[in-house]
Amino acid sequence: MHQSIEQLYNEFEHEIKTIASTNDLETLKVKYLGKKGPIQNIMKELKDVPPEQRPEFGKCVNDLKEDISKKIDEKQNILVQSEENQQLLSEKIDITLPGRRRFIGRKHVINQVMDEMIEILIELGFSVQYGPDIDTDYYNFGALNFAPDHPARDMQDTFYIEPGVLLRTHTSNIQARIMESSKPPIRIIAPGKVYRNETITARSHVFFHQIEAVYIDKNVSFADLRATLDQFFKKLFQCDVETRYRPSYFPFVEPGMEVDMRCLNCVGNGCQLCKHTGWLEIAGAGMIHPEVLKNGDIDPEEFSGYAWGLGIERLTLLKYGIKDIRLFTENDIRFLKQFSGQ
Ligand code: DAH
Repeated sequence: MHQSIEQLYNEFEHEIKTIASTNDLETLKVKYLGKKGPIQNIMKELKDVPPEQRPEFGKCVNDLKEDISKKIDEKQNILVQSEENQQLLSEKIDITLPGRRRFIGRKHVINQVMDEMIEILIELGFSVQYGPDIDTDYYNFGALNFAPDHPARDMQDTFYIEPGVLLRTHTSNIQARIMESSKPPIRIIAPGKVYRNETITARSHVFFHQIEAVYIDKNVSFADLRATLDQFFKKLFQCDVETRYRPSYFPFVEPGMEVDMRCLNCVGNGCQLCKHTGWLEIAGAGMIHPEVLKNGDIDPEEFSGYAWGLGIERLTLLKYGIKDIRLFTENDIRFLKQFSGQ
C-alpha cells in the first residue's frame, strides 16, 4: 500500500513538471484530487486495511493529499505570476514614444470665407435668410423678370429636375420669396450653393457658392449700394479696395452693373490674374427692377431697392491666390489643411 502511495506521488511529480498553464493545472488537480481520482480510490480501501494499520495508512494518504495540494498551489502561484507577466509584457506601453496627434477637422475654406462675409454683412445691418437649392422656374427666373425665351433658362445652363423645377442657378431666387414674406424695410443676405450645367475647368464648376444681398426701403439709392459694397470689400480684404462699376444687363435690375476691383496682385499694373487689365470682376449688382418689386407685391412708386450677388469661390481664389477652382471640391487634405481657420 505504501508503495502504491509512493508510486502515485512520483507519477504526480513527474506530471506536474510538464504543466505550463493554469488550465492544465486545473485538469491535473481534478485528476488527482477529484472525486473519481486515485486518492479517493485509496481512501475507499481504508476499510480493508487491518485496524492496527489504519492510523498510519490514513496518515500516509492525508500526507499525500496535502503534499499534492501544496504542490498544486505552489505551481498555481508560479503560473499565475508568469501568465500575468506575459500579459503585462504584451501590453507594455512605451512611454517614451511621442503621443499620437489627433486630427482635428476644420471648416472648409469656402465656408470660412462665407462665414467671414456673413459676419461683416451682419455688422453692416443685414440679416441672413436661406432659400431652397431646389426651386421653381418662377422664383429662379420668372419672378426675376427673365423673359420666357431667355438663354439662361436653356437646358444647357440649368439642371432641370422636372419641367418647371430646377437646381437654382443663383441665390437671386431669394428675392421674390423675401418680398412675398416680408414688407420693407428689407435688408437681407442669402448665402448658399448654386448649380450650373457647365464644363468643369480651372475657372468654372457645376456648383459653387454665392451670397445675395437685398435692400429695399424708401429712397434706397445707387449711392447706398456703392457705399455698402465698398465698405464690405474694405473689411473683407482689410485694405482700401478701389472699385469701378460697369453697366451690364441682368433682367432683375435696372440699371444693372458689374463691379470690378483693382487687382490686388499687381495693384493695377496688369498681371496674369487680371488678364493684364488691372481689374478683377467680383460682383453683379443693380437697382431692383420695378417689375421684380411688383412681382413681390411691393409698390415701385413708394419703394426702391438694390441687390447684388457675388461668387464666393471667385473671391476665395483672389483672396488666397489659388489658381484652380476644382481644388475646392477635390478634398485633397494637403490643400485643405492650409486654411487654418476654425
Ligand atoms: N444672380 C447673378 C448671377 O448669378 C448675380 C447678380 C447680378 C445678382 C446682379 C444681383 C444683381 O443681385 O443685382 O450671375
